[in-house]
Amino acid sequence: MSDLKMSPFVKWAGGKTQLLDKLRKRAPRSFGTYYEPFIGGGAFLLDFQPERAVINDVNEQLLNIYAQLKADAEAVIAAVNAFDAVPCDKEYYLSLRRAYNEKIVSRRLDAECAALMIWLNKHCFNGLYRVNTKGLFNVPYNNRREGSSIDADNLRAIGRYLREENVEIRQGDFEAACATAKAGDFVYFDSPYVPVSQTANFTDYTKDGFSYEDHCRLAELFGRLDKKGVYLMLSNHNVPLVHELYQGFAIEEIDVRRSINRDASKRVGREVIITNFDR
Ligand SMILES: C[S@@+](CC[C@H](N)C(=O)[O-])C[C@H]1O[C@@H](n2cnc3c(N)ncnc32)[C@H](O)[C@@H]1O
Repeated sequence: MSDLKMSPFVKWAGGKTQLLDKLRKRAPRSFGTYYEPFIGGGAFLLDFQPERAVINDVNEQLLNIYAQLKADAEAVIAAVNAFDAVPCDKEYYLSLRRAYNEKIVSRRLDAECAALMIWLNKHCFNGLYRVNTKGLFNVPYNNRREGSSIDADNLRAIGRYLREENVEIRQGDFEAACATAKAGDFVYFDSPYVPVSQTANFTDYTKDGFSYEDHCRLAELFGRLDKKGVYLMLSNHNVPLVHELYQGFAIEEIDVRRSINRDASKRVGREVIITNFDR
């Protein structure tokens, strides 16, 4: 394992910073390749720092940040610093949001696109990532005027880690990302969670959302990989559907504090960590 001090470069819904100790304690002591098919902000990867890893997400702009940091963190840092050099107001925010959306439309996944996404994450309401039906980022301004949007040393450390440990970056559906996992590998699944209330919708993360069928597909994949002898760990809400889908596996209930939630009463909740092995 490498020994860098790293943390997520974006605030991300479902970020696992609160759960790191609990996840680390449940991880297998040794394993082959580490897979994280729903990487998001990567809190666990950056803390755990496995030597061989495959990371994946359906959000290609997010993965572009990992790819750009791996290729040349300095280019991303320079671009964010240039955006930070101008004091922010609503007009400036909207102009950078437009610039970012133009990158999405023209599919220009470059260092500047990565820098725009990081900068917007720090200046948008609640650090949300939300896109409209056309796939364009539409979160409003959070009124932050100045200050640095990055910890440059953190970005450098992440770039170095991704390069030196040769972390493979894939983009697409979680199922395809796990196709190469074999006996002795370790997969951590942190999908969008099953909603706690019946009224919450299933489409908060990207324009693709994560449906009931996706949760069933994930549980089937979990079963198949278990039979192959892959070490598996999964987090989700502590709700009946999750207990039903993972019946027969070790389901541990835990308390977690969440910061991305407008409703304070929903900031503390019960979650589960499911594993298929004893440590
Ligand atoms: C709960 S978040 C992961 C949070 C992450 N563990 C962290 O610490 O920030 C879930 C992620 O799954 C991604 N996602 C949604 N549907 C997906 C799919 N079908 N395949 C792969 N990734 C998907 C979302 O883009 C999002 O980044």
